[in-house]
Amino acid sequence: LDSADFDALEDKARARLSPGAYAFAAAGADDEITLAENIAAWRTLRLRPRVLNDVAKIDTGASILGAGLRNPIMVAPFGRHKLFHPEGECATARGAAAAGAVFVLPTTSTVSMEDVASEAATAPRWFQLYLPPDRGLAENLIDRAAAASFGAIVLTVDQPVYGSSPRAARAPLTPSPDIRSANLPGQPIAQHSYKPGHTGSVTFPATLRDLEWLVSRSRLDVVVKGVLRGDDAVRCVEAGAKAIIVSNHGGRHLDGAIATADALPEMADAIAGKAELYVDGGIRRGTDIVKALALGARAVLVARPVIWGLALGGAEGVRAVLDHLNAELARAMALCGAARLADIGADLVANK
Ligand SMILES: Cc1cc2nc3c(=O)[nH]c(=O)nc-3n(C[C@H](O)[C@H](O)[C@H](O)COP(=O)(O)O)c2cc1C
Repeated sequence: LDSADFDALEDKARARLSPGAYAFAAAGADDEITLAENIAAWRTLRLRPRVLNDVAKIDTGASILGAGLRNPIMVAPFGRHKLFHPEGECATARGAAAAGAVFVLPTTSTVSMEDVASEAATAPRWFQLYLPPDRGLAENLIDRAAAASFGAIVLTVDQPVYGSSPRAARAPLTPSPDIRSANLPGQPIAQHSYKPGHTGSVTFPATLRDLEWLVSRSRLDVVVKGVLRGDDAVRCVEAGAKAIIVSNHGGRHLDGAIATADALPEMADAIAGKAELYVDGGIRRGTDIVKALALGARAVLVARPVIWGLALGGAEGVRAVLDHLNAELARAMALCGAARLADIGADLVANK
């Protein structure tokens, strides 16, 4: 696996996957403006490296919700891993564990959360929740996640209705009896979110009261994913969220949403250390991770490069992508004069 160049990796994965599976992973909503700007916004930022520091030993060790991790890189939740590899989320879980990365398992996993938990028993993992309107089902999911030793619940709030993707609509997925939403009752055959009939229909319209309910009901820490404004971040923290993920869902629902690199500084100011802050969307290089940490994130999440690794090499492919990003992070830190994550401050990024 050549993970040195994620664009080349994507091309290879595209050749391996069905057109529908590739489009489901790669596409963004509408004109794909936000999809492209997520990547471009990191690339626009410029670094101000420090010199004459001792960088003989680089330590990428991170502390995330109180857990010590080898690096600040997590696998973002993405649905339906069996579309990309027959072992599905089991392969991703093993690859993430080998790289020391937190694996965020999606609600729409094609392997049950209990099976994923036994696959990488001691590895750090969180459970992403789309809050079902049925409270009984929500309680079932969060109680099972706690019983299966997931470390946190990640509530996704940026998809009250489905977005629309012309690119994905042109390459529809054929539903398969082997690919099911294994966490849900009856294990329904997985449908994909860009199905034309879904567009604009209500999915998981979580409100602030739902977040308050979840915080009071869940034994696990609650992380809110999909926030792009400082005022919303403050509302989440006041409701009891322990961390916020700055995210526009990889540009998959609201096109024209602000790029996450551009939203991050406002969020860091608003939260002012009262909760942890992570960011995803367009992270493709170790230097992107340095920039994200400099702008106030404690960790980053990555989806699409992990999907390409999964498609090409299963668990090994996932590990290779994550190890590669971590090696790039260590090199970027050395070149910026930062031996530890704590040395990465706002001064490392030039004002635009
Ligand atoms: C194929 C695919 C499926 C996704 N499914 C979910 C999901 O089920 N829940 C969720 O919170 N985010 C989902 N996301 C969004 C990711 O968690 C993440 O926010 C985003 O993709 C990160 O950007 P990147 O792909 O540029 O790294 C999905 C992303 C992709 C690419």
